[in-house]
Amino acid sequence: MGLLEGKVALITGAARGIGKAIALKYAEEGADVAFTDLVINEAAEQTVAELEAFGHKVKAYASNAASFDETHTVVEEILKEFGRIDILVNNAGITKDGLMLRMSEQQWDAVLTVNLKSAFNFIHALTPVMARQRGGCIISMSSVVGVSGNAGQCNYSASKAGLIGLTKSIAKEMGPRGIRANCIAPGFIISDMTAALPDDVREQWVKTIPLRRGGTPEDVANVALFLASDLSSYVSGQVIHCCGGMNC
Ligand code: NAI
Repeated sequence: MGLLEGKVALITGAARGIGKAIALKYAEEGADVAFTDLVINEAAEQTVAELEAFGHKVKAYASNAASFDETHTVVEEILKEFGRIDILVNNAGITKDGLMLRMSEQQWDAVLTVNLKSAFNFIHALTPVMARQRGGCIISMSSVVGVSGNAGQCNYSASKAGLIGLTKSIAKEMGPRGIRANCIAPGFIISDMTAALPDDVREQWVKTIPLRRGGTPEDVANVALFLASDLSSYVSGQVIHCCGGMNC
């Protein structure tokens, strides 16, 4: 029997990358999976097909996680279709890097809205549902730079640090209702997001990692499985780093 048998998971931004790896891991462990992304394109359809191979219920929804209204609408649709939501993974995220001296208001607002407000949107829509269910599990995708900061990423680092504050507060507020909230702080993970970096920047990053390799989306998905399952039933308000020892 899988670790998530009978559970329903909702993962944001899961058409590709880390979100997709988490969706696959959850389906492999028995969960029904609903996921969102900005558009349901060929890649998203491919993800649906791969998930369906595990034999559980799967549906993809086009929804902008940054929009409060769209989020509440999509959560209603998912509840109608799946009946409950036990696990929420706030994974959708973007970068718009630049030094503070050159950062535009638009760069700041876009990253804070997609990375941080999106988590507020989904948690706001789902905490009443999870409270009624007398349990639930919320995982938000922070980053090592949300803990350490990073030159050229003040907007991204602030959004990821914000997720940690949000998570710790929700863990305190909702713990008495049986809801756990945790963050994962990935380091350098090989995905479309990091593929956009120049080769020399990528090589520099890898040199700073004690395990001397970039992480894979599956490395992060394994942590997300632990945090979603009963294996972590006494773990809440925590930030689990998945970074090859980079940020220890
Ligand atoms: P990715 O760029 O490969 O995938 C992100 C997904 O989110 C895409 O499918 C994209 O369409 C979706 N998305 C973007 N904006 C959205 C919105 N407004 N509404 C709904 N979906 C939206 O990125 P990756 O690497 O898989 O990252 C996933 C999460 O992990 C992000 O939150 C990222 O910040 C975080 N992370 C990634 C690291 C890395 O090294 N790749 C390191 C630390 C954190």
